[in-house]
Amino acid sequence: MRKPRRLTDEQLAPWVWSAASGRRRPPVPEGAENEQGADVPRSPTRINWESLYGNAYPVEIEVGTGKGLFLLHAATARPGTNFFGIEIVRKYQLYAATRYAIRNLPNVKTACADAKVVLRDFVAPGSAAAVHVYFPDPWWKARHKKRRVFTPEFAADAARAIAPGGRLYLASDVEEYFNVMIAIVRAMPSFAERPDEADRAAPHTADGYATNFERKAMETGGSVWRAVFERTAEAVTVAADPAP
Ligand SMILES: C[S@@+](CC[C@H](N)C(=O)[O-])C[C@H]1O[C@@H](n2cnc3c(N)ncnc32)[C@H](O)[C@@H]1O
Repeated sequence: MRKPRRLTDEQLAPWVWSAASGRRRPPVPEGAENEQGADVPRSPTRINWESLYGNAYPVEIEVGTGKGLFLLHAATARPGTNFFGIEIVRKYQLYAATRYAIRNLPNVKTACADAKVVLRDFVAPGSAAAVHVYFPDPWWKARHKKRRVFTPEFAADAARAIAPGGRLYLASDVEEYFNVMIAIVRAMPSFAERPDEADRAAPHTADGYATNFERKAMETGGSVWRAVFERTAEAVTVAADPAP
């Protein structure tokens, strides 16, 4: 990874959200995967987006931001939308936060946390305009598949987070995992597929690729699958797992 200019914690603070802000060291949650230093306390409170960003713009969440390229483009291109990126690996979160800090982008924050926990416990129902999940880790080996972020429970938590009329954006370069994701979402009455909008998942910009993993896939001649779903007004259900 090319090292960006190193900024201090104080310089990065406006771009870093921590559920444990105000405490010197966040407590390790019971049973949580915290080896990578994710900031998740025991007693969650819902995030107040308006006080976090200082305005009432709609909020879009990205799960697994990696080095943060998608949010860099999106936050620059859409200053009237707030973006919240969740990344479980601290060095990637800080890399992304540094990119936003250097450009002084006011409408993007990053969290170092397990996105499954954040969506389930910290995001108020109906408070997000969109959730983006781009190139999630496929965890190929059968015994590792339980580590995948996109499960029926995760999809249900995303549905709870997204306001009716909002969007769930999905992209992957792994056909098998993509098919699992869309099978889960297609089985949920709380989502309706919008094939007419599929190109808006990880959309290209004038600057090129939408995400680092999309660039890797395209440069090696791979395929990319994309889907967009609209949040309906139906109650949230948990789909059966198509890949148990
Ligand atoms: C294959 S990378 C894709 C990164 C980026 N979306 C892209 O397209 O370039 C998947 C990212 O998701 C992160 N990740 C994996 N599980 C996660 C979880 N439970 N919560 C948040 N981030 C997670 C990984 O650390 C990694 O940075």
